[in-house]
Amino acid sequence: MPRRRCDESLQPSIADIRAFIAANLHLRPAPTLPDILLYTAHPASGLSRLGAGNADDPPPYWAYGWAGGTVLANHLFSEPGCVRGRRVLDLGAGSGIVAIAAAKCGAASVSAADIDPNAIAAIGLNAAANDVRVDVLHADLLSAAPPDVDFVLAGDVFYEQGLATRMLAFLGNCRAAGIDVLIGDPRRTPLPQEKLRLVAEYPVPDFGNGSGGGATLGGIFTIDFAG
Ligand SMILES: C[S@@+](CC[C@H](N)C(=O)[O-])C[C@H]1O[C@@H](n2cnc3c(N)ncnc32)[C@H](O)[C@@H]1O
Repeated sequence: MPRRRCDESLQPSIADIRAFIAANLHLRPAPTLPDILLYTAHPASGLSRLGAGNADDPPPYWAYGWAGGTVLANHLFSEPGCVRGRRVLDLGAGSGIVAIAAAKCGAASVSAADIDPNAIAAIGLNAAANDVRVDVLHADLLSAAPPDVDFVLAGDVFYEQGLATRMLAFLGNCRAAGIDVLIGDPRRTPLPQEKLRLVAEYPVPDFGNGSGGGATLGGIFTIDFAG
């Protein structure tokens, strides 16, 4: 696997990354969601060969189970009517767990956006492994106008203050444009709970709560748009 950053011309293609993931990660049921299979890291995955761990590269969020996405996917399976027949965007998709759940719950179309090229490769592989269609967007949408969708789902994207500030502004703009928004989050410190309304809660494991995936209470939140 060519290394990135030292020489950008050696940056692996999405096809290279997909091949690495398929060969080195394990396809396993997602935590608490036996109907969703995800390529998941294990101690011998060798993720450093994808650049994960270099200071310039994003952490390999896509390779682990985060409470925010897990709780949001659980909520969709509990209430599939909220996405059935609707155009859905999974924002900050990571592995694509929320996008895959939305597709399995009957969404009319599903797209998944992330800024990490490794996540883009993983989402494509994971969608194929679950036999669902997810359109992937390698883009930072947070400075753009609200997307042309009915529903934005955001799992575990309030983990840094700067990102949380941008995310809240973007999701608020989506609500103002008439788009439904649900956020899944285990109440990480930057989550602006005072500006959100809690819709539901589910106990879920969280990779961020110890590598054993310690249990936490995940919340489903929305933003009330006052007009
Ligand atoms: C903690 S992970 C959560 C992944 C997934 N939603 C889940 O819950 O399993 C956060 C994800 O947000 C992505 N991300 C960070 N900033 C972003 C941005 N501005 N636009 C899109 N994705 C972003 C990261 O690359 C990462 O994949």
